[in-house]
Amino acid sequence: PETTTAPAHCVGPDYRPNAQKPTATVSTEISYENVHILPQTSQLIALLTMIRDKDTARADFIFYSNRIIRLLVEEGLNHLPVIEHTITTPVGHSYAGVKFQGKICGVSIMRAGEAMEQGLRDCCRSVRIGKILIQRDEDTSKPKLFYDKLPEDISDRWVLLLDPMFATGGSATMAVDVLKSRGVPENRILFLNLIASPEGVTSFAKRFPKLRVVTAFVDQGLDEKNYIVPGLGDFGDRFYTL
Ligand code: URA
Repeated sequence: PETTTAPAHCVGPDYRPNAQKPTATVSTEISYENVHILPQTSQLIALLTMIRDKDTARADFIFYSNRIIRLLVEEGLNHLPVIEHTITTPVGHSYAGVKFQGKICGVSIMRAGEAMEQGLRDCCRSVRIGKILIQRDEDTSKPKLFYDKLPEDISDRWVLLLDPMFATGGSATMAVDVLKSRGVPENRILFLNLIASPEGVTSFAKRFPKLRVVTAFVDQGLDEKNYIVPGLGDFGDRFYTL
């Protein structure tokens, strides 16, 4: 099941005929079952257009990234199991609902992944959040684990792994290996990212078939410096510094 090149589709509400809708590039379709792409709504495409624009100022980049991060976290939470939970409303009627079953934590891949922590906290009050720092080893030019701080009971938790840009997947692969070495089963890891490359999702689907990837968009590919294209440049620079 391979990828196609990013198609342009009509975008916008159904009350307008397709002929009256603008066309926009939407996510490359991916047929791996563990890859979940957010619905390509007009809002999402507009938010991505804002953060991809090289002329978008830092304050706007942060604001619109945060809106996408919120959508990713909400979608990620939908992949967690629930149990039946019936309650009584203030007018004395019962409502057959559900509640989340289990414990979760976030793990951000530093530094860019830390930008996604607030979005997780906004949805899950007092959530535990761990961190992993992976950098390229100057001698071998391979990714190397420099630091980690993870909840001691992480093996009992569902883990939302956070990194906005899923390029080659080198850091994310090492992060997942660290989580698995601490006893987290692969099927309890959800990897949330804003933009993924076809190369990244394909390598993950093969290596970690039970891990779920939740992404807003799968882009066209990687350039010679392993930046995602069309991409948005360096996410950490645009969120934290520029
Ligand atoms: N990290 C980024 O910030 N951007 C890319 O395009 C790839 C990795």
